[in-house]
Amino acid sequence: MAARHFLTLNDLSTDELNRLLDHASFLRREWQAGKSRNSLANRVLAMIFEKSSTRTRVSFEAGMAQLGGSAMFLSPRDTQLGRGEPIEDSARVISSMVDAVMIRTFAHDTVSRFASVSRVPVINALTDDFHPCQLLADMQTFREHRGDIRGATVTWVGDGNNMCNSYINAARLFGFQLNIACPDGYAPDTALVAAHQDVVTIFSDPREAARGSSLIVTDVWASMGQEAEAEARRQVFTPYQVNPELMALAAPDALFMHCLPAHRGEEISDDMLEHPGSVVWDEAENRLHAQKALLEFLILGRLEP
Ligand code: CP
Ligand code: NVA
Repeated sequence: MAARHFLTLNDLSTDELNRLLDHASFLRREWQAGKSRNSLANRVLAMIFEKSSTRTRVSFEAGMAQLGGSAMFLSPRDTQLGRGEPIEDSARVISSMVDAVMIRTFAHDTVSRFASVSRVPVINALTDDFHPCQLLADMQTFREHRGDIRGATVTWVGDGNNMCNSYINAARLFGFQLNIACPDGYAPDTALVAAHQDVVTIFSDPREAARGSSLIVTDVWASMGQEAEAEARRQVFTPYQVNPELMALAAPDALFMHCLPAHRGEEISDDMLEHPGSVVWDEAENRLHAQKALLEFLILGRLEP
C-alpha cells in the first residue's frame, strides 16, 4: 500500500483530523500521568532541516524517544543534499532505511518531490507555503480550551504567509470562518483565497477583522528566508500589531495564539504573551502531543489509544 503523507492539512479528512486531535489530547494526559508508551519501538524518523527550528526539532525528537523509537537530525551542511544530490535520489535512499521522514525546507515542491518517490510517510515540518504540523497543535489547543471550533470566527492578523495558508486549509476542514487582516500586497495566495471564498474574508483593518472573533492569531512579519525584507516589512506591518486593545474587540473569551518565535514590540505588544487569553505555551507544548499522534497515524495507521 502506498504510504500516507502529511504535506498539507488536506492530506487528512476532517474525520481523521478530529480523531487525531482526540488522540493527541489522550497522549498528552497519558504522558502527564507519567505512563510510558512503546508504540514506535525500533522505529526511526529522519528529520531533514534546511531552516532553523526549536519547537519542531525538539518535539519530533522527544516525541519519537517517548514512543520508544528514535530520530535522526540531518542538516544539508552534513549530508549530500547540501552538495546537490538530487532530492529524488536522496528520497529513495533515506526512505529505504527509516520509517518516516520529516522535512523543513524552502520550496514546497521539495517535499512534494521527496514524497513522490518515498517508500515511507513524509511530513511537512514547514515550507515557504504551508506549516500543517503547527495547525494540528493550534486546533488541539483550541478544543482543549474552548471545545469544537466548528462555526466559530477566527482572525489572522499580519502576513499572508505559510501559517496563514495553513489556517485557510484549516477553515475548510474544521468548518470555521477565517478573517484575514493584512496590508496591501501581503495577502495570501490569490488562487488559494479564491478556492476558499466561502470560509475566508480579507480585511485591511485588523480592528474590523477582530470583531467578535473567538481566536486571534498572528506570526512574524518576516519569515525565514525573508530577512532582507525585515526593515521594509516593519514599516508596512506596524498597524497590524496584536495587543490588548485589539483583543478587546474580539469575543470576551477570545484566545490568542502565535506559533512562536515571537518578536515583542513588533507583531505583538510586550505584554501579549501574558494576556489572559494567551494560550501560546500550551500551543507550543501541543506540538509534541499532536505530532506523536500524527507519527502513530502515519507509521502504524493508528488513531486510537
Ligand atoms: N513554531 C515553530 O515551528 O517553531 P520552530 O521554528 O522553533 O520549530
Ligand atoms: N512564518 C514563520 C513561521 C516560523 C515557525 C516562518 O516561516 O519563519
